[in-house]
Amino acid sequence: MGKNIVLIGFMGTGKTAVGKRLAALLNREFFDSDNEVEKVTGMTISQLFNKYGEVRFRSEEKLVIRRLAEKENCIIATGGGVILDEENIKLLANNSVMICLTARPEIIMERVKKRNTRPLLKKGDLYTTIVQLMKEREELYQCADYCVDTSDQDFQEIIDKIIIFLKEKGINEN
Ligand code: S3P
Repeated sequence: MGKNIVLIGFMGTGKTAVGKRLAALLNREFFDSDNEVEKVTGMTISQLFNKYGEVRFRSEEKLVIRRLAEKENCIIATGGGVILDEENIKLLANNSVMICLTARPEIIMERVKKRNTRPLLKKGDLYTTIVQLMKEREELYQCADYCVDTSDQDFQEIIDKIIIFLKEKGINEN
């Protein structure tokens, strides 16, 4: 079975952008779990949160993860909260190598505030919310096989690091 490459990590760490580039480079199909949720529900993530709340979003996300976890040889970028559900982690880990992207809170803040479409970052002080959520999730992101800090690196450097790691693992055949 050809392993998937799954990108996990906090909001604004670059999972979608890195995932797309990685997919183009390795000639693999790309999926983004948020995008899949939007396709299935016919709503944007914000609309879904506003209309039905986070619980409903999480159950749609879970259904999408069940489906994506069955794929092979794909690059899958996940929403930042995917690790909150133990079954999501188990399913994804089953046939994938998991890469966690990280970034410092002040960098995340700069990235997300340009166009804040994240419902969870819309309440209260942005920086405080980011730090708090990061702290709550820190341990959960440790299920990854490899981590890359995207705070001070450009896309090429991030991709290069991931490619080296994949080669070491014998995953990238290119
Ligand atoms: C979330 C992250 C978002 C999206 C939703 C919830 C989270 O995805 O799934 O707003 O709980 O961290 P990104 O990580 O792609 O922003």
